[in-house]
Amino acid sequence: MQQVDVGLGKRGYPILIAEGGLAGIGKDLGQRRVGNRYTIVADSQVAELYGQQLLASLAATGLTANLLTFPAGEANKNLATIADLASQLARRGTDRKDALIALGGGVTGDITGFLAAIYMRGIPFVQVPTTLLAQVDSSVGGKTGVDLPEGKNLLGVFYQPACVHIDTEVLATLPPAELLNGIAEVIKYGVIYDADFFAFLRQNRPAILGLDRVVLATVIHRCCEIKAAVVAADERESDFRRILNFGHTIGHAVEAASEFAIGHGQAVAMGMVAVMKLAVAKGIFAREAADEVRQLIVDFGLAPVIPAGLDRQAIKSFLSTDKKAIGGRPFFVLPERIGTVLITDAIEEALIDQVIA
Ligand code: NAD
Ligand code: GLY
Repeated sequence: MQQVDVGLGKRGYPILIAEGGLAGIGKDLGQRRVGNRYTIVADSQVAELYGQQLLASLAATGLTANLLTFPAGEANKNLATIADLASQLARRGTDRKDALIALGGGVTGDITGFLAAIYMRGIPFVQVPTTLLAQVDSSVGGKTGVDLPEGKNLLGVFYQPACVHIDTEVLATLPPAELLNGIAEVIKYGVIYDADFFAFLRQNRPAILGLDRVVLATVIHRCCEIKAAVVAADERESDFRRILNFGHTIGHAVEAASEFAIGHGQAVAMGMVAVMKLAVAKGIFAREAADEVRQLIVDFGLAPVIPAGLDRQAIKSFLSTDKKAIGGRPFFVLPERIGTVLITDAIEEALIDQVIA
């Protein structure tokens, strides 16, 4: 078992990483006493795969737990799902001393965290991420929320989990396209924060794609360390945490314009390539370094280019409603070197149009 601590004082918590860790969650929660009783929230697919296993782990320690499900997919990360789950909690008599467990990918984590934050003005929750994307990114840091038709993640709150349990074994059932969604976020950490980690990814690409146990555990651990450090420095994204949005400004707009046919990580990969073009055009980032990152993205099997059939006007319109845009002006995280980035909103509209085109 490896542990990374998110240093947020009273709101701090451990990230516990273990192969086969699902079986030990009941024992750990019994010791931590996160809640009197537990409701596991999972999407339809993950509930089928791992719901009973987690229920059994809790029952083995004598903890009371039940399972609530919602239909899988980003299209269900909305207020209707929150209202439905909240009603079910109320009907089952869930009270303020009970806790939720998010078992699933980023969609489940964002929904469950938001539900936990607002149900009876806040009950504790635990993250049990089951996609690579959720294990390296979304389960850590307390960003929770849902989408509106007008844009992604427009409703939400910062609300930290009580702990994060990462079982690397569950990645064995992840469809390859979902693994790639996570790889995009993994590459992001190398570019924004750690050139040595970027080099490690280049050297270990086959092992990562082959789900090599040791290499994968190293990757997840390092990503969690980086995310924990960034979140501890700027929990509510007043400034520094914005570096985690490298590729996301354009990525979110692509994801929404595709009506979520393009997955989050795959859209972020396209966004990273697009903003690297901005950085090269502005003379901030060397073309050779941009080529190196683009090549790694391609080598992992991610598409670097926004599909030609996707409506550019729709992408632009989602860019201006991005929740981080101020006065309709989006900001961009631009690499200076691999491992270092800067944040700016001073990019001419014509240049943005050019890279999106
Ligand atoms: P997801 O939660 O929809 O999961 C992807 C698919 O994989 C789903 O169909 C799910 O049922 C399936 N799945 C999950 N685990 C599985 C497993 N072990 N085996 C087989 N199938 C499995 O998507 P995601 O890519 O995990 O997360 C994307 C979401 O995360 C987006 O909504 C994005 O906005 C959000 N996000 C949030 C943060 C944050 O900080 N809160 C950060 C990054 C992304
Ligand atoms: N995934 C971006 C953040 O957590 O800030």
